[in-house]
Amino acid sequence: MMHDSAPDTSMTAEEFRLIRDLVRERSGLHFGEETRYVFERRVRERCAALGISTFVDYYRLLRVDAKGEAELQELYDLLATKETYFFREEYQLAAFREEVLPVLLQEAASRRRLSVWSAGCSTGEEAYSIAIVLVESGMFDGWALRVHGTDLSRRCLAAARKGIYAETSFRATNEERRRRFFVEREDGTHVSEMLRGLCHFGLMNLVHMQRSPSFMQLDVVFCKNVLIYFDAESRKRVLNGLYDRLRPGGYLLLGHSESLLNETTRFEVVHLKGDVVYRRPNTRSSPPYQPRKRAG
Ligand SMILES: C[S@@+](CC[C@H](N)C(=O)[O-])C[C@H]1O[C@@H](n2cnc3c(N)ncnc32)[C@H](O)[C@@H]1O
Repeated sequence: MMHDSAPDTSMTAEEFRLIRDLVRERSGLHFGEETRYVFERRVRERCAALGISTFVDYYRLLRVDAKGEAELQELYDLLATKETYFFREEYQLAAFREEVLPVLLQEAASRRRLSVWSAGCSTGEEAYSIAIVLVESGMFDGWALRVHGTDLSRRCLAAARKGIYAETSFRATNEERRRRFFVEREDGTHVSEMLRGLCHFGLMNLVHMQRSPSFMQLDVVFCKNVLIYFDAESRKRVLNGLYDRLRPGGYLLLGHSESLLNETTRFEVVHLKGDVVYRRPNTRSSPPYQPRKRAG
């Protein structure tokens, strides 16, 4: 419900700093001076929705009120970039299929289980695209396959679980995939039940990951177009968390504009023919099949 009352003055430099720093501390999302105008507009929208007439009162609500955590969720939803679509950066999914999956097929053969994580999955298109690639590869028939999608935004997760998409999500999906993995209905294009069965979605703040034993030992993490919005410290923290959740030999795939080449991390760099990816070193054994690899 919208109320009339909202701050009728501009946000001061101090108010911007206070709210911006709180958002960064809790979510990793960083807003520089150049984004101040948009930031202020979003915060003002929240103030209007809540009937709060000063930015300081809004800050207090976020910081000390019992409803502060829930309100931060609302604010992230307005502030975070959630742009995504099926088969975004398809060259990477091709490299995943042709150069990563054959390695995992051998290394995980005794387990016959593969867990892939889409960290910062937004509305789910990335997780479903990964599931499609796993199924299309035909390599894992009879295996226990799981794709976990996690995000900070409850709204995004609700949409991901629903699995009903509009045309804009399909800008990079070919007809064959559409026919095989989706069902057209009046309310939109639905992911097939088979895909839905492979993908599981849950809330997770990457900056404050909890170590849950049920969510460890992952084979691959896709964390794409998420870290670019973080400050350096949060990025480091998240990379450490992702590393710890991968099994030795597990892979990390980032977005095309993101790279670890200038970061100090425990990951090793793997130069595939079709992409550069990262790997938690396999300390137990050398991989039976190794793609072309150079030190970073
Ligand atoms: C631009 S989307 C990327 C979606 C998908 N990975 C892709 O590349 O198409 C970024 C997502 O990261 C999520 N995000 C931002 N900060 C996060 C955090 N601290 N923890 C978890 N997810 C976060 C946002 O809610 C948003 O859905």
